[in-house]
Amino acid sequence: MDALALEATGGKKKANGASVAAPLPAQPPAKRKPAKKAKKAVVFFEVEILDAKTKDKLCFLDKVEPNATIGEIKSMFHRSHPQWYPARQSIRLDPKGKSLKDEDVLQHLPVGTTATFYFRDLGAQISWVTVFLTEYTGPLVIYLMFYFRVPFIYAPKYDFTTSKHWVVHLACMCHSFHYVKRLLETLFVHRFSHGTMPLRNIFKNCTYYWGFAAWMAYYINHPLYTPPIYGEQQIRIALIIFLFCQIGNFSIHIALRNLRPPGSKTRKIPYPTKNPFTWIFLLVSCPNYTYELGSWLGFTLMTQCLPVAFFTLVGFIQMTVWAKGKHRSYLKEFRDYPPLRSPILPFVL
Ligand SMILES: NC(=O)c1ccc[n+]([C@@H]2O[C@H](COP(=O)([O-])OP(=O)(O)OC[C@H]3O[C@@H](n4cnc5c(N)ncnc54)[C@H](OP(=O)(O)O)[C@@H]3O)[C@@H](O)[C@H]2O)c1
Repeated sequence: MDALALEATGGKKKANGASVAAPLPAQPPAKRKPAKKAKKAVVFFEVEILDAKTKDKLCFLDKVEPNATIGEIKSMFHRSHPQWYPARQSIRLDPKGKSLKDEDVLQHLPVGTTATFYFRDLGAQISWVTVFLTEYTGPLVIYLMFYFRVPFIYAPKYDFTTSKHWVVHLACMCHSFHYVKRLLETLFVHRFSHGTMPLRNIFKNCTYYWGFAAWMAYYINHPLYTPPIYGEQQIRIALIIFLFCQIGNFSIHIALRNLRPPGSKTRKIPYPTKNPFTWIFLLVSCPNYTYELGSWLGFTLMTQCLPVAFFTLVGFIQMTVWAKGKHRSYLKEFRDYPPLRSPILPFVL
């Protein structure tokens, strides 16, 4: 960058120098060689970074290349403030505005050649993969502890006993399958665009997933658990719903993965593929959430257990909030976004 800076400054000096140096003998315009196309001088930016809360000046960067990205500016800022590594920096144009993306380019932002940015510390960060693995391993292990009735959960006479109801074993298989699937998808399917998230979120998320898993597992594996009222028929229908939605959810995750080339952060409009499970994209923006809801409805029907119904409801509310946000972003980002789609439930929500 400095080399380029010098080149640009040198060029300018030469031009200025030429105007003050002894004039060359004048030539008639007709004989003059056609002038070489003038090299466009690079205009460097000055970047100042202020604390978004106090407005104190934290850093001043001189001679920043116009095509520098926010990600590169974060790295330069990190050099002077090693405690704030790039992933924990939020750089904004407005103290209360949205964070700029790492790939935003300085010269394309609505700033002058002296740009002012505002910084907010996002707090200690943790990688998304670690977050998901922690969130999903918990429910898997916790549920199995209740299923195997390890000591100190139920009365001692039930330690390491098994339920006499086959639905309890089926429920354990479905629950474990669901979380193993999620773990494998996190490792091998999803292509996340964000590398990290705030460390404090992991405590909130783990409380949610681990807590609900324990609550559900306690009742389903309880020695006094009673199977669903309509017996085998209800369990069979529930299993079909559960499996159908699991395959659907997986199909959507594959379709989303295929939208994004490896290593990129591209976001595209998802469309139905050859796989019929993805045809729901015709009507819904976030069908992975629709199928997720279906899976938990199936599990509720299978176990006929109130805590499971409550988990399904809370998950549905959370996913609806996210789906509405994603739907809004699609509409904002893509002018040709299919108008028939709803965020999570076709024609309803
Ligand atoms: N039971 C519950 O309470 C609950 C709640 C939430 C989620 N879940 C489950 O967890 C799964 C994952 O959740 P999520 O919130 O991470 O789902 P998501 O936002 O739909 O993302 C899934 C993956 O697809 C990528 N993606 C999404 N839209 C894309 C697009 N238009 N173009 C390219 N890539 C795109 C995402 O990348 P980005 O990193 O860019 O987003 C992410 O890697 C859900 O499908 C659901 O099965 C369960």
